[in-house]
Amino acid sequence: MPLSAAEAQSTNKNPQACAVILAAGKSTRMRSELPKPLHPVCGVPLTGHVVRACRDAGIERVVVVIGHQADRVREGLGDDVEYVLQTEQLGSGHAAMCAEPALKGFHGAVLILAGDVPLIRPQTLESLIAAVGGDEATAGGRTAGAMLTARLDDPTGYGRVICDEAGNVVKIVEHRDATPEERAIKVVNPSIYCFRAEGLFEKLHQIGTDNDQGELYLTDVVGIASAAGERIAAVPIEDAREVLGVNTRAELAEVTRLMRLRILEGFMREGVTVVDPATTYVDATVTVGRDTTIEPQTHLLGSTTIGERCTIGPMTVVKDMRIGDETAIMQSRVIGGVIGSRVRIGPFAHIRPGCSIRDGARIGDFVELKNSDIGEGVAASHLSYIGDADVGAGTNVGAGTITCNYDGYKKHRTVIGKRAFIGSHTTLVAPVHVGDGAMTAAGTVVTEDVPGDALAIGRARQATREGWAARWRSARERHGDG
Ligand code: UD1
Ligand code: CA
Repeated sequence: MPLSAAEAQSTNKNPQACAVILAAGKSTRMRSELPKPLHPVCGVPLTGHVVRACRDAGIERVVVVIGHQADRVREGLGDDVEYVLQTEQLGSGHAAMCAEPALKGFHGAVLILAGDVPLIRPQTLESLIAAVGGDEATAGGRTAGAMLTARLDDPTGYGRVICDEAGNVVKIVEHRDATPEERAIKVVNPSIYCFRAEGLFEKLHQIGTDNDQGELYLTDVVGIASAAGERIAAVPIEDAREVLGVNTRAELAEVTRLMRLRILEGFMREGVTVVDPATTYVDATVTVGRDTTIEPQTHLLGSTTIGERCTIGPMTVVKDMRIGDETAIMQSRVIGGVIGSRVRIGPFAHIRPGCSIRDGARIGDFVELKNSDIGEGVAASHLSYIGDADVGAGTNVGAGTITCNYDGYKKHRTVIGKRAFIGSHTTLVAPVHVGDGAMTAAGTVVTEDVPGDALAIGRARQATREGWAARWRSARERHGDG
């Protein structure tokens, strides 16, 4: 079984909960043309990871609040979530309020989370939802909601969480609004909350703008609930790295590194050898089979799936590929196609999009393939360009073979049959067809179709002059310029 980095980790569904993901902000600190929710983290948009965590926690209804570059964000995140628009960015509280019409009539738990916390795990969301539901949770007064809390050595920039003796949250103070005593608090707000739907929007409407930024802060809902005698439970998170938020490029890099290690740990747990996790780059969308070895400095990207007992790398880029079992690819770049089982590729091969390389084929060094079907057991071992070609099973492609597929206006196809032998340095001027079992002599320029089992030879006849080289050398030496 191929293993997925994103395997759904949840079994108990949460149909009684919905999620509101806040992703409308301007993300000024990223200093980017690209909206923050779309910055890729291991091949998936930042906010896409948050959506995925909600889905894996069994939440069916996911509402994403968009505003800044709304159309672009909507297009980038895709249409399997609902969108609501925040036309003016008046703060995180106002963003949450924008979901009110969409959630009219919804009873249950409303998870509200920032779209910039991609490492959040579904299990954590499930325990947060569980902290709001259930009878035992209502013990110390009505439970209006719960929020994750994290302890950070350096809490700079985060909202600080102020709790009562019972460990319930009393209020959240933003860093810029905090007193020196409050700033000394190391328990922070990761911006991941779960509220009961009843009463949530009433409280959101009570929020004011009396803060340093003059914004409507979502964090104030917590203080409002607490002041009204309602309980907001604190759910401390063990590993604070899970709630790291991305506000800057440096944080983006750090979160990407952690995500990568998490994916690789998942692979290793399921029986994949990762020789050097620190130099193995892998997208969240990749699957790798058991007993496959990933050598150092290897990138596995996009929709790639790799079978069992393969060796990939070192120094290899694999993107959007489907690869069978027991295939080895070393020091090569392989993009957008299908490779069978027991195939050998590299070193220094370049497999461009649109190729199908069938079982047992061998593609050697400095071979470039593009949009070609390479049959079972084909060998193209050295220095070739094969583009827009079909090569039949068992054919040998000699060193330096070139398909001339382009006439300056159009691409043309080269078709080579089964068990053919293409001599070294054959030039195949497409469109051209070489039949089953045919041979081409080394150095031949093939401009006409070659019938099956025929030999094509097309090169200038060699002239040999006995003793010429020796005479030439001695003439040079006599004149003293040898
Ligand atoms: C917020 C929290 C802070 C917490 C931190 C954790 C508030 C007031 N503060 O601060 O307590 O420690 O997250 O990372 O919530 N957004 C909108 N519309 C807006 C404003 C923001 O959709 O008008 C979205 C942003 O896109 C983002 C989220 O809300 O996804 C949080 O906003 P951000 O500006 O990142 O808040 P922080 O300053 O990080
Ligand atoms: Ca943030």
